Amino acid sequence: MARRKKIYEGKAKILYEGPEPGTLVQYFKDDATAFNAEKKDVIEGKGVLNNRLSEYFMLGLNNIGVPTHFLRRINMREQLIRSCEIIPLEVIVRNFAAGSISKRLGIEEGTQLPRPIIEFSYKDDSLGDPLVPEEYITAFGWASQQDLDDIVSIAIRVNDYLSGVMYGVGIKLIDFKIEIGRIYDGDFMRLVVADEISPDSCRLWDIKTGEKLDKDVFRRDLGNLTDAYTEVARRLGVMPSNV
Ligand code: C5P
Repeated sequence: MARRKKIYEGKAKILYEGPEPGTLVQYFKDDATAFNAEKKDVIEGKGVLNNRLSEYFMLGLNNIGVPTHFLRRINMREQLIRSCEIIPLEVIVRNFAAGSISKRLGIEEGTQLPRPIIEFSYKDDSLGDPLVPEEYITAFGWASQQDLDDIVSIAIRVNDYLSGVMYGVGIKLIDFKIEIGRIYDGDFMRLVVADEISPDSCRLWDIKTGEKLDKDVFRRDLGNLTDAYTEVARRLGVMPSNV
């Protein structure tokens, strides 16, 4: 049997050529990195949990009419996705201050923001993904003004969906990051939520105790990352052992 062609390897995932044109297989690794890969470790089971959790969120979005790249989960570590052209932006939505906004503006972590704030970083590891204003995005042609308007409305819908789902299981959605891709269908182009949605790319705090159930556990050495992600999966009823 021929070996699958590797298309791309990132810090936490690998993309392989898919079984049909226009598809890819997304493989979730156990590698954890933080601070632009200055801190690294292998956390056994993280890939399995993120594959399952990302499936859950992407399916939920597909069901409410927010298009995503997700087609189906293949096995414990892999999912079939649509191939898309990734817009080189990290789209970050914040409901409460934490992380870089707290540092930048001196706002105490956990402070509710006056309204959800959407910000963009330019995806470039060598530059450390710098925060960019909308003006840069259109001027440098990373996205058109129309794309940008559509990205903002997708981000708001994802925030509404994710906040609601999390609230239902006693978790506060502090912030999250999504990536957006373009899929071309003949003359038409549509934007989809791509990459992954998982505790690697969200901040999730237990509503009652404030306990962190996301990658900050790894970034800040707060305990066992697999236990935190397992707790999120357990509350959502998507434990990998249930499938
Ligand atoms: O670090 P910062 O506070 O800007 O992160 C905001 C949110 O975006 C967090 O949920 C973080 O996990 C996510 N993020 C990410 N990938 C990055 C940068 C931030 O998933 N490269």
